[in-house]
Amino acid sequence: MKIKLQIKRFNPEKDRAPWWGKYEVDVEPNDRLLDALHEVKWRQDGTLAFRRSCAHGVCGSDAMKINGRNRLACKELVRNLSRTIVVEPLMGFRVLKDLIVDMEPFFKKYRQIHPYLVNEDPEEPGRERLQTPAERSRFEDTTKCILCAACTTACPSFWTNPDYVGPASIVQAHRFIFDSRDRAGAERLHILNESEGVWRCRTVFNCAEACPRGIDVPKAIAEVKRALVFKKI
Ligand code: SF4
Ligand code: FES
Repeated sequence: MKIKLQIKRFNPEKDRAPWWGKYEVDVEPNDRLLDALHEVKWRQDGTLAFRRSCAHGVCGSDAMKINGRNRLACKELVRNLSRTIVVEPLMGFRVLKDLIVDMEPFFKKYRQIHPYLVNEDPEEPGRERLQTPAERSRFEDTTKCILCAACTTACPSFWTNPDYVGPASIVQAHRFIFDSRDRAGAERLHILNESEGVWRCRTVFNCAEACPRGIDVPKAIAEVKRALVFKKI
């Protein structure tokens, strides 16, 4: 089948303003949008720039706006999209080139919430730190995050205030705050209680629809807020 791609292009070294690149490509119905982008890059215009790595919805590198919604290009089958597909970079980050945005501010916020297990209690020799299935289930959902930034860049609170820590960092904080083996939950909650923290969330719910991993992002945010209000993890 033939599809048309309308891709927002911008090379800050050459272009004064973004422009729309228009391409027609032959694809199979089961091809993903990522395959169509490869067709353009490999056969029509090698200057087109986009990120991708795993091509299987695991690395999170090819999040972009597809027909106005944040999606992973490697998970969108062309047969489920319109015949003309509009592709744009994620909103709210500086465009480095075409569909590639500067993710450094995103990862800076991610690092702020200490996204790793903190526990300096001495381990029993020869034993792992154990937890029950019920303890594990408290943060099971948020372990699925692949840091694609689709949630954060779909959030109006983030668009209007780029200093807001954003849903992705809250999801990552949630993953450790509610882990019974971790000891830095109070510190993470303190960070999220700051002025650019979790209270910037206005429960718009754009993040719920954006997450390609199906994580219940609003629920994770609500649990963090509740832990702050009731001072109890
Ligand atoms: Fe991506 Fe979902 Fe993680 Fe947000 S919560 S960064 S949308 S995987
Ligand atoms: Fe890795 Fe799409 S290329 S998630």
